[in-house]
Amino acid sequence: MITKEQVLEALRDVHDPEINRSLVELNMIRNITIEGKRVGLDVILTIAGCPLKAKIEEDVRNAIKALGAEEVDVRFGSMTDEERAALSAQLRGGQPQNQAPGQARPLNPILAEGSPTVFIAITSGKGGVGKSTVTVNLAVALARLGKKVGIIDADIYGFSVPDMMNIEQRPTVIGELILPVEKFGVKVMSMGFFVEDNSPIIWRGPMLGKMLRNFFGEVHWGELDYLILDLPPGTGDMALDVHTMIPQSKEIIVTTPHATAAFVAARAGAMAIRTNHEILGVVENMAWYEAKDGSKEYVFGRGGGAKLAEQLSCELLAQIPLGQPENHPAEPDYSPSVYKQDTPNGRLYTELAQRVLEKTGKTGG
Ligand SMILES: Nc1ncnc2c1ncn2[C@@H]1O[C@H](COP(=O)(O)OP(=O)(O)O)[C@@H](O)[C@H]1O
Ligand SMILES: [Mg+2]
Repeated sequence: MITKEQVLEALRDVHDPEINRSLVELNMIRNITIEGKRVGLDVILTIAGCPLKAKIEEDVRNAIKALGAEEVDVRFGSMTDEERAALSAQLRGGQPQNQAPGQARPLNPILAEGSPTVFIAITSGKGGVGKSTVTVNLAVALARLGKKVGIIDADIYGFSVPDMMNIEQRPTVIGELILPVEKFGVKVMSMGFFVEDNSPIIWRGPMLGKMLRNFFGEVHWGELDYLILDLPPGTGDMALDVHTMIPQSKEIIVTTPHATAAFVAARAGAMAIRTNHEILGVVENMAWYEAKDGSKEYVFGRGGGAKLAEQLSCELLAQIPLGQPENHPAEPDYSPSVYKQDTPNGRLYTELAQRVLEKTGKTGG
């Protein structure tokens, strides 16, 4: 005879795919009924139209069938506003949600002292050198190596990560908490999720900092090994905000092989040094074009990455040649900018990710 305790115990291992916590712990399982080998229960979703309902149902069904149940009736409901508020408080770390005005919000655990999350800001002297491409592909490559990875698309005017990864889903909002959207195993947060119809954003300095703050204060990241920030080009307010909020952040500087580009990128490097951010190294993007006969054409010049690395006394982590991802819109996991794992550039990004693991001491597990 199956008992309620057994059902709850079995469901302890079933996680809400977005929040990544047990359904039982999240108080989403209610009204368990058992008649012989027939089990019924309510699953209370965070929002009514939860996009992952089918997945949750399947997982619940399988867990209960494993107990020997022959029939499982899963009934769905959704949380009340009060329940959502309580959950969002619980996810924030049990901190009360209604704080006195002026009181600082509780720190996101990934920012707290002793947090294992490694922050890497991807910077460049100017736009168009491939910062976002490097961000997205490094993040996906780290995820392919089994790491838990997030991206903050902090290029607030020029956000492009959702399009580059072909993310059409929008984040789930629970009470005051936002759940990042996951794609290719990477959790993504971008201003682009909150802008209608690609309309331009006219924001001023202080709001930029606020946005970054919100991306930590309001977003439930869960556990992360790496959080990669795609910064706007140059050395503006956002770079300073990152320093203030995440003094432990490391940086990767992206440049093209052109001498002038490397010269401009050196300013981003100088900024990193001034703010005491460790520079993990330089990525030279668009390094060359490989012709069909295997010969290399240095379309954008040559040597800029090595020169910059020397100037900043850091390593040239990778040279990525020109090449569009061989992806087609008809494929199920299509994206315009993510190189497949077993393509030349995909392999280079895996090597870059491995180098990053080594440099940040996360090669194990
Ligand atoms: N290695 C590369 N080969 C071909 N095209 C690239 C490469 N890296 C980037 N691109 C393209 O160049 C453009 C600018 O890249 P992007 O990553 O958006 O730069 P940034 O974020 O620095 O402005 C995009 O259209 C991108 O697809
Ligand atoms: Mg960009």
